[in-house]
Amino acid sequence: MTTEPAPRLLDPVLPDVQMNLVKPTEPVIGRVVSNRNCMRGKSASFVRHIAIDVSGTPLEGTFHAGQAFGVVPPGTDEKGRAHKVRLYSIASPTSGEDGEGRILSTTCKRMIDEYQPQTPKDDQDRNDLVLGVCSNYLCDLKEGDEVLVTGPSGKRFILPAEPEAHDYLFLATGTGIAPFRGMLMDLFKGPDGPTQSQIHMVMGVGYTTDLLYDDEFRELAENHANFHYHTVISREIQPDGTKGGYIHHYLDRQVQLHESMLQSDRTLMYLCGLAGMQIGVFQLLAKLGLGTPYLKVKDELADVLPDDWTSQQIKRFVRPTHRCMLEVY
Ligand code: A2P
Repeated sequence: MTTEPAPRLLDPVLPDVQMNLVKPTEPVIGRVVSNRNCMRGKSASFVRHIAIDVSGTPLEGTFHAGQAFGVVPPGTDEKGRAHKVRLYSIASPTSGEDGEGRILSTTCKRMIDEYQPQTPKDDQDRNDLVLGVCSNYLCDLKEGDEVLVTGPSGKRFILPAEPEAHDYLFLATGTGIAPFRGMLMDLFKGPDGPTQSQIHMVMGVGYTTDLLYDDEFRELAENHANFHYHTVISREIQPDGTKGGYIHHYLDRQVQLHESMLQSDRTLMYLCGLAGMQIGVFQLLAKLGLGTPYLKVKDELADVLPDDWTSQQIKRFVRPTHRCMLEVY
């Protein structure tokens, strides 16, 4: 048995959440109640908000904003084996889309690509279309369709038990925004009334049209002075002639806005999205001398400048503290 170290005084206390009530080997049936595009505009990618009724299953009333659930796509893989379960972040609040914990939702991007040889043994001339099995299955579902679901999973990427004791920095790339939508609904529309905590959310996407749930977040920011919605558009040219860059570039440019928040004992940082974001953000925090509450840097890196940290070194020698929640892929 392993024992976890006792949390430090300023560390968040996380609530106990239920996990693995429905196992991948015995999925239960959910029913799609809606499936809509949730992007701001016409884009080269396709992201949909899919809501699934899990009434009467062990998932009803038990999932928590920030957790994930599983989807088992029908059919078999190229080796003739049944497809494995895929995990999707829950985008709904803890009370579900319906307020009763019966309908959960997710944010699903269609995986669309060209075949790319991975090894010299692979056919170097292939360039055919590759469609992700589960993402396209989910995005194709219609209202009323059945879908096999499992879960919930995850116990750390959730809001603390006492949300008012903290302020929040939420960082997301692309569909990494999903858990933050649910958490924001918990914080502002949950049973305890709108939160008084300060919340800064930074969302990174390629183009303005790729922003997800943009209307919902704008409305929230208009109605709540303590919610600050920032967007970082990597591929568009900014008024100063430079590209928008990534989330860590934005934090660096706007450091005067976030410095005191990052230094505050109340602040928790949540990162969800591409693994590369973790690297950029960790390097930046360390470089600015703001990393201590969020990162534990092992001795092996003591003499290496953060800008020179490799992704391998970061994986091995930099650990998030209890005040930094990570969900990267
Ligand atoms: P870009 O695609 O311009 O490189 P996606 O929707 O494909 O998941 O991407 C979401 C956003 O994350 C895009 O703006 C993408 O930029 C950006 N991104 C890619 N790599 C990183 C990284 N290492 N750190 C932060 N953002 C990244």
